[in-house]
Amino acid sequence: MRRIGMAIVGIATALALAACGGTGAGGGAPTGGSTANNQAAGDTLVGVAMPTQTSERWIADGNAVKKGLTDAGYKVDLQYANDDIPTQTQQIDAMITAGAKLLIIAAIDGTALTSQLQNAASKGIKVIAYDRLIRDSENVDFYVSFDNYKVGVAQATALLYGMGITDRDGKATGSAPKGQNIEMFAGSLDDNNAHFFWNGAQDTLKPFIANGTLVVKSKQTTIEQAATLRWLQETAQKRMEDLLTSTYGGKGTGLKGVLSPYDGISRGIITALQGVGMGPTIKEGLPIVTGQDAEIASVKLIADGVQSSTIFKDTRKLAAQAVTASQAFLSGKTPEPNNTKDYDNGKKIVPSYLLEVDTVYADTIQAMLIDSGYWTADEVKSGVAK
Ligand code: BGC
Repeated sequence: MRRIGMAIVGIATALALAACGGTGAGGGAPTGGSTANNQAAGDTLVGVAMPTQTSERWIADGNAVKKGLTDAGYKVDLQYANDDIPTQTQQIDAMITAGAKLLIIAAIDGTALTSQLQNAASKGIKVIAYDRLIRDSENVDFYVSFDNYKVGVAQATALLYGMGITDRDGKATGSAPKGQNIEMFAGSLDDNNAHFFWNGAQDTLKPFIANGTLVVKSKQTTIEQAATLRWLQETAQKRMEDLLTSTYGGKGTGLKGVLSPYDGISRGIITALQGVGMGPTIKEGLPIVTGQDAEIASVKLIADGVQSSTIFKDTRKLAAQAVTASQAFLSGKTPEPNNTKDYDNGKKIVPSYLLEVDTVYADTIQAMLIDSGYWTADEVKSGVAK
């Protein structure tokens, strides 16, 4: 409840952020369109389907996409599906019935939308997969996301850096002791991104596991063992508690680091670690825990020396790209991809526009998150989005 409450408070922030604009790499910020364009766009409905409001990022994404499209003169139907697959499919059906000319979809289960997309294609409706690739369908016209493999590389590098094994660029320090214990978490297996994050992280950790610097003491080394259905904080907390009991004498003895793919999962892990008396801060022995999304509660934990890092994905830039791509499709053009090889959805390689990400540590919060207007100093201090 509290998280949802906080998330709702975040809407105002998201709107304010969206208002600031933000230039999407390559494509630029949505222009707002000329008056003539706005009139032409006026009757055109765009459906925007987002997965959940329990995570701040999707609220910020939804609001920024809606604002960009509205400024460009389109009508927008923005829906959230509470992470429930049937709800999302019904919402998309309803958008199609209501006459949407384009769909922007961040899927809950990337494999569950084939019939909706078939229906959309038969009516000439273009589909943009937003952040998460929609799989097993010919009818995905464009994909806007971040470089998800690099997110995984950045997460693993942040883990290695936090443990003193490499520098921030991933170069081995050469001074790390052997046999340091880690555990690894992955996201939801039905989210295509979870696999990219995992692969990027595994490729980065592998040499250090091979040479004995790192040991996954539980031996839970497959993505299936590490997965967290729906990316839920509570599920991650429970798995961490179980690992502490089964593998670390109930107290976390010898555990040095935990790879986490998302801030909500990170907070679940940290709660479990602190629950057995570790920390409460890294200085006081809390293991290094990574993250993703720069959620405000985690940014505060990073500022406080509890969580070690997060990956910042500027949702303002992603929303701007989605709007740019929408404007292209809706004016009969094709948006410009910057990647045409990496995102095979099982039926075709989907032309993609990928944005870069940044790693945030305590000493880069100011430059990356506050100076860029993503969060204010007050929000970081309180851990609550205003
Ligand atoms: C997104 C991440 C997010 C995760 C959980 C992924 O698809 O790319 O940014 O942390 O979903 O919401």
